[in-house]
Amino acid sequence: MEQESMWNRRVRPRVRTRRWKVAATVGVAATAAVTVALAVAAPAQAATTLRSLAEAKSRYFGTALTVGDVTNGTESNLAATQFDMVTPGNEMKWDTTEPSRGNFNFGPGDQIVSFAQAHTMRVRGHNLVWHSQTGAWVFQGSEGKPADRETLLARMRDHIRTVVGRYKGKIHGWDVVNEAIDEDGSLRKSPWQVGIGDDYVAKAFEFAREADPDAELYYNDFNLEKPAKRAGVIKLVQDLQARKLRIDGIGNQAHWRLDTPAIDEIDKALVELHATGLKVMFTELDINLLPNTPRGADPSAANPYANGLPDEVQQQLARRYADVFRVFLKHRDAVTRVTFWGLSDADSWLNRGRMNYPLLWDRQRRPKPAFDAVVQALRTPG
Ligand code: XIL
Repeated sequence: MEQESMWNRRVRPRVRTRRWKVAATVGVAATAAVTVALAVAAPAQAATTLRSLAEAKSRYFGTALTVGDVTNGTESNLAATQFDMVTPGNEMKWDTTEPSRGNFNFGPGDQIVSFAQAHTMRVRGHNLVWHSQTGAWVFQGSEGKPADRETLLARMRDHIRTVVGRYKGKIHGWDVVNEAIDEDGSLRKSPWQVGIGDDYVAKAFEFAREADPDAELYYNDFNLEKPAKRAGVIKLVQDLQARKLRIDGIGNQAHWRLDTPAIDEIDKALVELHATGLKVMFTELDINLLPNTPRGADPSAANPYANGLPDEVQQQLARRYADVFRVFLKHRDAVTRVTFWGLSDADSWLNRGRMNYPLLWDRQRRPKPAFDAVVQALRTPG
């Protein structure tokens, strides 16, 4: 936080003169100042990076990366130039880090961490406790019965200790629990909740704190623009706060569409989540352009942009990103980070056999109008 507020003080968006270039001599804040001053003086798109613009606004820009991305030259160059935070797309999930009991596999996670360190990027650990991408063995007890509370708590503690311990000092913060709340605001009846009881979330935060007292700890979920679900999330974090457990932020995944959620819903959710006293982070931002069609639907309906995205939709996407970023900037004191779920359209998890266009770079890794729209929003003084 100190570093963030330092940037806030020194590199205000209204800074406009080349004097900053001269004044800027050392340090990261200085580098950000140079980039901003130059960007304003000469609007050369090539020189503009989200990373420098975010830093100038005292914030961080992240992207999800997989091992495939960090070992691909084009992808990794783009990531290192544009972003200063990384979330491993899958590499720190339970099914990768502990595929069978007590057998830990840190190869993929280590690759992401070394890449981040080599490019002075922060890492967000994702994630420790979730119902998905977790091997069935975790929830199995003896003789075909489900594991009991004590067994599950022991497995959870051991996993958190080992994984968080491995990356102690290298991970800025952890998504401790992912997606624990159902659409109606109740605790999701995940195998964790069923086996341990409602306090499994509190236990996970307790174990994470034990394992690395210096790491930030977050709760992460989606559909937080829906009032019932948001109320459930707020109740959950308030319960953690009442138990005096460490929690630093709420991650709003932000898997959105062109029209939903509405901008005022995003705004309202942000304000309400921040009223808990926590930082709000947009952790998995993308804008899905494809319709929700049933399996086996006519391809012309299910995959309407198989041969390319019409310019009109491209422009709609750019406007949507601009609107979204205007809300983030309006609440810049609440929003400390924005992370996209992937780099280019080629890498997005939203393709799933179809052609989707949810991100800021196209399949050839060229910036799209949506990229320019985000840059424009970030350059607007205020
Ligand atoms: C996704 C990955 O991007 C995919 O590769 C994987 O097949 C499924 O999970 N919410 C989350 C992320 O918290 O971990 C998910 O990532 C996307 C939804």
